[in-house]
Amino acid sequence: MEACRTNDGETLLKAVGIRRVFGKGQTAVTALADIHLNVKTGTLVALKGRSGSGKTTLLNILSALDEPTGGQVFLQNREITALSPLERSRLRRKELGLIFQSFGLIPLMSAYENVEYGLRIAGAPSSGNREAAIEALEKVGMKDRMKHRPMELSGGEQQRVAIARAIAHKPTLLIADEPTAELDSRMGYQVMKVFRELVQKAGMTIVMTTHDPGIMELADYVVALEDGRIVTQNQLSAD
Ligand SMILES: Nc1ncnc2c1ncn2[C@@H]1O[C@H](COP(=O)(O)OP(=O)(O)O)[C@@H](O)[C@H]1O
Ligand SMILES: [Mg+2]
Repeated sequence: MEACRTNDGETLLKAVGIRRVFGKGQTAVTALADIHLNVKTGTLVALKGRSGSGKTTLLNILSALDEPTGGQVFLQNREITALSPLERSRLRRKELGLIFQSFGLIPLMSAYENVEYGLRIAGAPSSGNREAAIEALEKVGMKDRMKHRPMELSGGEQQRVAIARAIAHKPTLLIADEPTAELDSRMGYQVMKVFRELVQKAGMTIVMTTHDPGIMELADYVVALEDGRIVTQNQLSAD
């Protein structure tokens, strides 16, 4: 199932009435109250909100890492909240690309080896992995530095390698939790430019979180969360 431009404008990801309560009884915390979200194919959606507003909890549910207390999530009309744990982990490996604040690269491996290793974890047949890894590194502008290890790269470059690892198996959806939080504004902007290019040229769909207003300007939609509820949804650019 490849992300393709012919699906433009169709709903790729849909959340219906998502609720997530941690704990029980008097100490229960309602992290998400009643979240409804529609993400169209080929768009970049940024979730914003103060620390503790529920952004990570929502991304974890959208990426099938966590299960909601109530509500449903659909990816391409398949209800992912109804899948077994095994099916969920297969979905994450094959169809999603995950990116985190802390990059998560393996220090002893070169940029290329990190991406190629990611492909093996995704269960890709080994033939063609080399080409797929190099193609992904090229897309994020890191092909000529692919022999470098993470410590020889800047934070922004490491995050671009992590993006290459997340897209090498051609996922349907990229999910990124605070991908620019550890970067200065120039490097954060470079990472966002890579995201924009992936959306515009490859038809990728991206859901990310951020606090940074400058970063949000590069999103197609900004969704604001407050105390586990969506308070506003804005369309920024109509490209
Ligand atoms: N595993 C957990 N157990 C208990 N409470 C949690 C857990 N994860 C998150 N929370 C609570 O849920 C709320 C939302 O957290 P989170 O989604 O991490 O917010 P954000 O990513 O916007 O900072 C917070 O009140 C947080 O303390
Ligand atoms: Mg968070």
